[in-house]
Amino acid sequence: RKGKTPEEVVKRYLQKVRNPPEEDCTICMETLTGPSGYKGPGVGGVSRAESVGRLAQCGHQYHLQCLVAMYNNGNKDGSLQCPTCKTIYGVKTGNQPPGKMEYHVIPHSLPGHPDCKTIRIIYNIPPGIQGPEHQNPGKPFTARGFPRHCYLPDSEKGRKVLRLLLVAWDRRLIFSVGTSSTTGESDTVIWNEVHHKTEFGSNLTGHGYPDPGYLDNVLEELKAQGIAEEDGQQL
Ligand code: APR
Ligand code: ZN
Repeated sequence: RKGKTPEEVVKRYLQKVRNPPEEDCTICMETLTGPSGYKGPGVGGVSRAESVGRLAQCGHQYHLQCLVAMYNNGNKDGSLQCPTCKTIYGVKTGNQPPGKMEYHVIPHSLPGHPDCKTIRIIYNIPPGIQGPEHQNPGKPFTARGFPRHCYLPDSEKGRKVLRLLLVAWDRRLIFSVGTSSTTGESDTVIWNEVHHKTEFGSNLTGHGYPDPGYLDNVLEELKAQGIAEEDGQQL
């Protein structure tokens, strides 16, 4: 992105390691004291197979070539996630297809949240054609069960989750295109790694209320996508 080569993007987040430790690179499983053993696609053009880098924040070390290959096999959005500890460098974005996210407050309480009203989020994504960021570019994808309705308590914590979900939506992280684990259908819009509650008064699917741990769990899932509580304040 912005004219930077994948190697330049990856190097932004790395410190050079001159004397690599006698440990294995957990991407290619070869020793860090020797060359990268990565043989798959995406390594083209990287300077030296022996180069090792340390991710600046978490300190985990890999072959430079291995990290560039990992970056090239992702959606190349300028961000990098440590495969060991999941620390995110830059701003992680996803490949959610175009659509709409709306929300409003409804004057009813959710099971387990008797003292407040309820936020209803409505996601709408139409079917379309996969882009270069998807598994099968040029191939159509289906979109089942839309509009999908989701519920949060209209409490302080519920509103915080909503603010962060709006950030996740803008970063295209709520949905993806792939194979549904529920229906087995491929090339379809699926939930990404942030759980939503799609049942209001019942809990037949397990994606309903009451669930006392839900808000904390979804905050953790958002954090794993690089969306922390501070981000919501910027809205
Ligand atoms: N509500 C909320 N989350 C769900 C649901 C559901 N009904 N079903 C599955 N999930 C969660 C799963 O626990 C998993 O973490 O979504 C993630 C991806 O599961 P998939 O089955 O691959 O996702 P998808 O096909 O999008 O969802 C299946 O969810 O909202 C409904 O209409 C939708 O019936 C469809 C179902
Ligand atoms: Zn390696």
